[in-house]
Amino acid sequence: MSPFRITRILPEDATDAALRADVLAGLTGSPRTLPPKWFYDARGSELFEEITALPEYYPTRAEREILAARSGEIAAASGARTLVELGSGSSEKTRYLLDALTGLGAYVPVDVSESALEGAGRAIATERPGLEVHALIADFTAALELPDTPGPRLLAFLGGTVGNLLPAERSAFLTSVRAALAPGDTLLLGTDLVKDEAVLVRAYDDAAGVTAAFDKNVLAVINRELDADFDLAAFDHVARWDPDREWIEMRLRSRTAQTVKVQSLDLAVDFAAGEELRTEVSAKFREPGVRAELAAAGLDLVHWWTDPQGRFALSLSTVR
Ligand code: AVJ
Repeated sequence: MSPFRITRILPEDATDAALRADVLAGLTGSPRTLPPKWFYDARGSELFEEITALPEYYPTRAEREILAARSGEIAAASGARTLVELGSGSSEKTRYLLDALTGLGAYVPVDVSESALEGAGRAIATERPGLEVHALIADFTAALELPDTPGPRLLAFLGGTVGNLLPAERSAFLTSVRAALAPGDTLLLGTDLVKDEAVLVRAYDDAAGVTAAFDKNVLAVINRELDADFDLAAFDHVARWDPDREWIEMRLRSRTAQTVKVQSLDLAVDFAAGEELRTEVSAKFREPGVRAELAAAGLDLVHWWTDPQGRFALSLSTVR
């Protein structure tokens, strides 16, 4: 059993304040929106794990194929002694990297979910004697403060989650990642790729309705946390491809004209029949765009790996 430490960077009440601010801004804005990070309470995280096993949801399997095939190359190119993983969740795909990184002394999983970190982080510490596991409860979209573990560091951000950030948020995020890294450190970034529209839409609107339940779960989170009265059955899940911005949008469409009350914000929100609330953007990428966004943040893309079907990419970048 190696050392396991867990540090809370995110204050307990920050989550509540951020949720209130996001829901207030998002439900009073036009068009109405909610940020996707609020999907992931215990139930939402469970539904997301179910999504990753759906026949239509290819990104998790495609990324796992790349990691299985390329972790040796990734390890050799990074030479990392510390692996930092943002949005580590279940740390399921991380094992490929942990196995391949022979000189690794420390693993730093970063997530907003304390329960995920307790489970996955502690399990890895138990399995890998000699590996220091220092979990951080933190919001990775805020400034990154990494513990003082030995370099070089490999910072991994897998799953295509960078696509859930809007373009301005993405450039701020990559800039803050760059600022947290030192010369010799590397960034491993997972990005889902542009492909046939029907394949993309099916991945976000599966036949079993798991993604619909995941989408509506954000309303259950708001009902519970902010004493609201959303009727989940009064909304339909919608997934749409935006060909200009090259992203999938998930939305919840109000079936009828209705008023929703959010007690703790003292807010009443009128929805027209058919009105849509945007709950997620999931951007899809092409290599030149990823390269350009990284370059703008001071990061040089040096490796680009895709699965054999070209559905998903992992890129490795160095600090300029
Ligand atoms: C969190 C980026 C992995 O955008 O594909 C899955 C979340 N949303 N189905 C994605 C999600 C709907 C997902 N990632």
